Amino acid sequence: MLDNKNFTKYLNRHEIDAAVQSIANRINDDYAGREVVLIGVLKGAILFVADLVRHLKIEAKIDFVRLSSYGKGRASSGTVTLVKDVHMDIRGKHVLIVEEIIDSGRTLRFLYDRLKKAEAATVEVVTLLDKASKRVVDVPVKYVGRRIDDQFLVGYGLDLEERCRNLCDIFYLKYPN
Ligand code: IMP
Ligand code: MG
Repeated sequence: MLDNKNFTKYLNRHEIDAAVQSIANRINDDYAGREVVLIGVLKGAILFVADLVRHLKIEAKIDFVRLSSYGKGRASSGTVTLVKDVHMDIRGKHVLIVEEIIDSGRTLRFLYDRLKKAEAATVEVVTLLDKASKRVVDVPVKYVGRRIDDQFLVGYGLDLEERCRNLCDIFYLKYPN
């Protein structure tokens, strides 16, 4: 059972919004006059995608993929499976993969390679949070909101066994069981 004493606030909604706005500003500058396709990674990135697109002033299409790399709980299974593929034809498009958090990098590497093979014109990665010290697989990440230590976070799309995604702020979870 999750209990309030287990949560320590990491980013409140205003800090999250400032991070999202600052990423959007960079994307607006870098892609001025061009159209991008945002590919959100379900389910964790839904809130981030929804907020990010509202700050974009360029043409932006949206699609989603669903990958599964985490089993139950906090440990990554190490194997990535594709649960829902991209629907849109991304050949020749400027693609931005949108993740809420990157840990080992396995999920992202898998998706990045797949989109490159689908002949996107460019593929870049956007993440709100980056646990850079946990990286096992190398993957180029262009837009990062915050670099964080190895802590388990919940809220703003981030879940613990499907709970807590709907929290408006992001919390460290001290005792997740
Ligand atoms: P990776 O393949 O190890 O980089 O795992 C990336 C995915 O694991 C993210 O997209 C999240 O869905 C999940 N994940 C990684 N760290 C956390 C966390 O601290 N809280 C909740 N989910 C996480
Ligand atoms: Mg994710």
